[in-house]
Amino acid sequence: MTTASAPGKIILFGEHAVVSGAMALGGAIDLRASVSVQDRAGCIVVTADDLMLQGFSLDLQSGRLSSPEAAYATRYISAVLREFDAHDVEVRIRSSLPASAGLGSSAAIVVAAVMAVSSHQGCSLTLKEIAALSFRLERQVQDGLASPTDTALATYGGYLKISSEISPLDLPPLELVVGYTGVPHNTKSEVEKVQKLKKRYQDLFDHIFQAIGSISLRAVPLIKDQNGAEIGELMNINHGLLEAIGVSSRELCELVYACRGAGGALGAKITGAGGGGCMIAIPGPAGKGPLMTAIKQAKGRPFVAKTGAEGVRLEREE
Ligand code: MEV
Repeated sequence: MTTASAPGKIILFGEHAVVSGAMALGGAIDLRASVSVQDRAGCIVVTADDLMLQGFSLDLQSGRLSSPEAAYATRYISAVLREFDAHDVEVRIRSSLPASAGLGSSAAIVVAAVMAVSSHQGCSLTLKEIAALSFRLERQVQDGLASPTDTALATYGGYLKISSEISPLDLPPLELVVGYTGVPHNTKSEVEKVQKLKKRYQDLFDHIFQAIGSISLRAVPLIKDQNGAEIGELMNINHGLLEAIGVSSRELCELVYACRGAGGALGAKITGAGGGGCMIAIPGPAGKGPLMTAIKQAKGRPFVAKTGAEGVRLEREE
């Protein structure tokens, strides 16, 4: 059996503004998806049996799908198996990343699958090859919509500065609490909504996106110095600007304000496309406990996540 795992991601600062060329800052997180491949004569079977993907099993050759979660994960695995012309295998997916939450679960699954399937066939790809192939496959499955950020973070790990090009940043880990609203996010529709509003208020949006880009730039030395108080202030400012461009929601705001209030967060903001999905908060002096409780009380699902996590890796043979 060959197993590879890859991390999910969060956007710390700069979402949406990056689509118009401003800088964004993303980090790989220590919540991972893993893909195991083993020989199984006469079939191609994909199984996933953890909480996040809600157990399913199907036979790709018979085409029987047991649930929407099955369809979600297997579209990516099928694309990888086709690419490597892989047959007579059983593929098992495990993930601690919620699907459709904006935490890069599909990119983590594709990247882990590319490494697991290629290694199982005795072929050793470079990280650059894994990132490029995974991006192409994720984009293909998502009908042309995928940013290279998610697959790059799942492959290389650490932090990435995203602007006209993507480059790594050497920064220490940052411990955050993530709150999932339970409302699936839709990156395509949120990006289209923002771009449409931008057309009507071009001058205002130019200023807002420039301010968001400056926030991303300012955040880099603060993360280097582990200056939680000022990182938190920047999160609050960035959140206000994301509200201004229309990507917040009642559910997201309830989690953000619960974190800043009872949770004692130093700062909190939407992460990713918005509209649903997740928010992030930086713990205050009382730590993560009150934040987790505040998110649960506001009907969200809390996770602790550390940024700067390791990229794709082969796991020990079982
Ligand atoms: C989504 O995680 C971040 C957006 O900026 C879209 C993108 O950069 O592709 C909203």
